[in-house]
Amino acid sequence: MTAVSSKIPTHGNYHNYHGYRYHHPGGHDSRLALLPRGLFTNARVLDVGCNEGWVSGEIAQSWGARRVVGVDIDDTLVRMAWRRRRTLWSHQAPLSSAGTSRPNSKRERAPVPASPPVADYFPASCQHMFGPLPIPAADTLDFDISENTFPHNISFRRADWVNESIPEDDGGYNVIVAFSVSKWIHLNGGDAGLSRFFERVYATLVSGGTFVLEAQPRESYIKARKLHPTLQENAQTSQMRPENFEATAMFHWVQAWAEAWGAWRRPIPSPSRPVC
Ligand SMILES: C[S@@+](CC[C@H](N)C(=O)[O-])C[C@H]1O[C@@H](n2cnc3c(N)ncnc32)[C@H](O)[C@@H]1O
Repeated sequence: MTAVSSKIPTHGNYHNYHGYRYHHPGGHDSRLALLPRGLFTNARVLDVGCNEGWVSGEIAQSWGARRVVGVDIDDTLVRMAWRRRRTLWSHQAPLSSAGTSRPNSKRERAPVPASPPVADYFPASCQHMFGPLPIPAADTLDFDISENTFPHNISFRRADWVNESIPEDDGGYNVIVAFSVSKWIHLNGGDAGLSRFFERVYATLVSGGTFVLEAQPRESYIKARKLHPTLQENAQTSQMRPENFEATAMFHWVQAWAEAWGAWRRPIPSPSRPVC
């Protein structure tokens, strides 16, 4: 598949999306704040449609995830996501100042710090004036930093995740996050594309895993479909409706748990269970 980096954001591949939509003084995403605190602890996480990596970065840095993979269809956004990782690292307090105990040896090192690092310790002006901070190698004795701690616990890939798998899929995920991306998958691929997406989520979640979906409402399709004739056509022919995703039998058991906002959680009973 050819790289997507169009001036017309037919996949919702907006640039500076997080800057204008979800940026708060502390840089926290308001949607993540709705999730149970322990959801990501020690988890392998996939962020589908990661855009410039703000959500993935916050999960990797502040939510105790063991591994976070952000995937986006737009290669320019993926490059920005890698830069975001460096920016987050440059703002973060030195690990010893964050209260993490400095181990005496590698053997004593816990996979995840007991408390998250202070994310906004250095002001943005520091990075502007002096450039980004270098990232030390993982598992050196000089730094309390391992492959499972930020910033080594996060990576990004360019892929159309509905139609292409990535190497990390093989290990499965404990949590898959899909924020504001289902509309774009639906409009580009129709009902078949959206079904394929849900099937891929099902297939790559480990048993007991959690799918967190923020589905955009149907009303928001009206403006988006004008971007391209294919989107227009798929909007006209599609039968699936965001408000009925739960009832389309795509998922046998979906627990609505943040209704005001439409986030759904689904424990997966068995990886081999068929998807309707
Ligand atoms: C509206 S943005 C949402 C960004 C982010 N998930 C959030 O809510 O903060 C949608 C993102 O999904 C990406 N995207 C759309 N279709 C995709 C696909 N099939 N595979 C991977 N990424 C996709 C777009 O490039 C865009 O960055």
